Amino acid sequence: MSNYKKCVLVISHDRYFLDKITNKTLEIENCECKLYNGNYSAYLKQKAVDREIQQRHYEQQQKEIARLEAFIEQQRRWNRERNIIAAESRQKAIERMEKIDAPKNLPEKVRMKFKSGIASGNDVLFAEGLGKEYPGKPLFKDVNFTIRKKERVFILGPNGCGKSTLLKILTGKIESFKGSFRYGYNVTLGYYDQEQEELNPNNTLIDEVWSANEDLSQTEIRNVLAMFLFKGEDVLKPVSTLSGGEKSRISLIKLMLSEANLLILDEPTNHLDINSREVLESSLEDYDGTLLIVSHDRYFIDKLATRIIELGETSCIDYNGNYTEFHEYKSKLNLSTGNESKSVKMTSSKMEHIATKEEKAKRRKLEKQLSETEKEINSTEARIKEIEEQMTQEEIISDHVKLMELHNELNELNSKLEGLYELWDELMSQSNE
Ligand SMILES: Nc1ncnc2c1ncn2[C@@H]1O[C@H](COP(=O)(O)OP(=O)(O)O)[C@@H](O)[C@H]1O
Ligand SMILES: [Mg+2]
Repeated sequence: MSNYKKCVLVISHDRYFLDKITNKTLEIENCECKLYNGNYSAYLKQKAVDREIQQRHYEQQQKEIARLEAFIEQQRRWNRERNIIAAESRQKAIERMEKIDAPKNLPEKVRMKFKSGIASGNDVLFAEGLGKEYPGKPLFKDVNFTIRKKERVFILGPNGCGKSTLLKILTGKIESFKGSFRYGYNVTLGYYDQEQEELNPNNTLIDEVWSANEDLSQTEIRNVLAMFLFKGEDVLKPVSTLSGGEKSRISLIKLMLSEANLLILDEPTNHLDINSREVLESSLEDYDGTLLIVSHDRYFIDKLATRIIELGETSCIDYNGNYTEFHEYKSKLNLSTGNESKSVKMTSSKMEHIATKEEKAKRRKLEKQLSETEKEINSTEARIKEIEEQMTQEEIISDHVKLMELHNELNELNSKLEGLYELWDELMSQSNE
């Protein structure tokens, strides 16, 4: 989609996708719409800076108003004609001021904390020769692994390759399969179903949570529901009327209260908004138990994975490391199987076709332009980074004139950068012709 030459308007919770594709971000918050330059990460930074500036301006103005009001008060007490005139003129000055509002409260975020009730032994789950096929459809075979305490294992693989099926085997929902598995000492299991089939649609929301935690009082249950932003009358809604995101939050509450020491999660971020994803991410990062997760959310995987198992029809890759390392490993793997060398050959044979002098000169010019554009992109990016760093320093934050200057420069640089990227794209496509 990033090669698509026309306008793209996209609504998504996938932060990685947004960062790759978008160069403008429209935020709808507190019934207001605001357009930011840049992708999702740039938007987050800019928003933080904007709020900081607005807060400073607001405080400064409030201070000034307080000063004027004290002056008016004093003049009124003295109560001579001269004083009354002075007081009135200051009063008018206050009224004339264009009032700056304090930044509105950010939307409330869910709060969650996962912890295990009892600790498991060091070996958590053994799988040996696991395999599954549906009639005429082999999914995976000979899957072997041992998962140890506190590992954060992600299972990857294309749609329909059998990831959910594997988790259902491991949680006892599917009973016919090849191979075997067993859990280690003291392992207690919490399962998050991709389809939310664990929830009873006829229950009200509060009963759904309460029935799984009967020892808790109504107040305790209501407090937990409030942490997940279910408040007041909301808690009496039947589960069947909930949206995907709301059902997700209910499942997460149940999971959190279960205090399991092994969490098996099937696409847990699918229905969550970005804020809730981030909260889930950091609470799982602090979790003291073991994680086995299926997910397509690259930010989520990047942040949490310590090991990656990629399911394939005939074999699976079991990689000890994070997502970035896994990617590097995979691209090396592709290199050695010849994919990469083919494309190298193609470029060199293409080069041979550029025979005439004229064409060579044109290409040289293009290459020069490209390298100059790249240099400029680099220096612009470096300056943006420098400014962003400066904007977090105490002495700059407290100097609102300087802050404003930097803010303006940043805006200019961002639009310049956008232009440079466009130019670079254009030059690149010319050089590939
Ligand atoms: N009961 C079933 N009978 C036949 N095929 C099934 C059954 N359940 C799932 N499948 C098929 O098995 C494949 C794997 O499903 P699933 O494990 O949900 O994939 P993933 O989670 O990796 O996207 C899919 O093609 C699905 O249609
Ligand atoms: Mg699935």
